[in-house]
Amino acid sequence: MTTSDSSGPAILVEGLRKSFGAVQALRGIDFSVGRGKILGVLGPNGAGKTTAVRILTTLVRPDGGTALIEGRDVVRQPDAVREIIGLAGQSAAIQEELTGRENLEILGRLYHLSKARSRERAAELLERFELLDAANRPARTYSGGMARRLDLAASLVAEPAVLFLDEPTTGLDPRSRNGMWGIIRDLVSGGTTLLLTTQYLEEADELADEIIVIDHGKIIAAGTSETLKDKVGGDVVDFGVVDRARLQAAAAAVAELSETAPMIDADDARVSIRVGNRGSRAVVQTVRNLDAAGVETTGLALRRPSLDDVFLALTGHQAAEDDTGSDGRRGRRRRRRRSGGPGRDDRGGAR
Ligand SMILES: Nc1ncnc2c1ncn2[C@@H]1O[C@H](COP(=O)(O)OP(=O)(O)OP(=O)(O)O)[C@@H](O)[C@H]1O
Ligand SMILES: [Mg+2]
Repeated sequence: MTTSDSSGPAILVEGLRKSFGAVQALRGIDFSVGRGKILGVLGPNGAGKTTAVRILTTLVRPDGGTALIEGRDVVRQPDAVREIIGLAGQSAAIQEELTGRENLEILGRLYHLSKARSRERAAELLERFELLDAANRPARTYSGGMARRLDLAASLVAEPAVLFLDEPTTGLDPRSRNGMWGIIRDLVSGGTTLLLTTQYLEEADELADEIIVIDHGKIIAAGTSETLKDKVGGDVVDFGVVDRARLQAAAAAVAELSETAPMIDADDARVSIRVGNRGSRAVVQTVRNLDAAGVETTGLALRRPSLDDVFLALTGHQAAEDDTGSDGRRGRRRRRRRSGGPGRDDRGGAR
């Protein structure tokens, strides 16, 4: 397959499997990413996202299946793969005692750029990532957002054709996150192929051309943000409950109107239900039922499903979370839960 370098997808993954002892981190996943496209890999804690990234970036060997990066096999041609990829998200490339500028210049030299070119490339990246002011300070003094930008800059020194970002905005405040999204968009408009993992549905929605949803090491859905939303089918009615103590009562009062069990967001005291295409009729019925139950609401609205709804609809039907052999960290950031049914608990929310 010598011609595959210039044709075919940027990333091609077939039947990829990986276990760590008894934990099946990846149970056979297949996907491809076209050149210049962004694939969003969405999944809760422990889903297998980082394992997939580590295999595709040659850091971990798969137990089975194949993965090609621009036609180069990650197991058989790891050096050829490393020549064309970049990886950010672990700050592994950054030396804390060196300044931002020194870090980038040294990486340039490691990638065999000339001294002059390394200096030039570092300056370009510092400017692009708005790090010029901090360029001559040790990296250890950087804020979270700055460190993340330096890490991303580091992954770009060698101008990779295919870039992997493992949760690039986890832990950033909304402003820094928005800034990062802008940077990522610019990157891809320059032709870079990007695989991005995230737990944030808005992030996948904002950035990704295509999304795969991973849970327990399997792909449970794939498509564009819109096709995934269509899968949920129909509209959502949601509302806030004034008296938090009545949250369960509110959910019970509207359960008969919903196509699936009502979803409860305990943190924001909101309930949402799936009403198919009954539209405003469902709104009237919701108001009537809540009124009859004596539940006071705020901000009741009919809306299209969000990716958040998609995720809950998809994963809400999973068997109990404990018997999967995963590490029990699942759901750390998944606060909304379906009401009723066995296996409900607040484990995740407490972390
Ligand atoms: N080196 C390892 N040794 C043992 N188990 C591992 C190792 N790496 C990953 N796992 C397990 O494999 C599963 C998938 O982990 P992975 O890190 O790929 O998930 P993730 O989707 O990246 O999660 P997170 O969102 O928390 O980063 C988990 O159950 C995890 O505990
Ligand atoms: Mg991870």
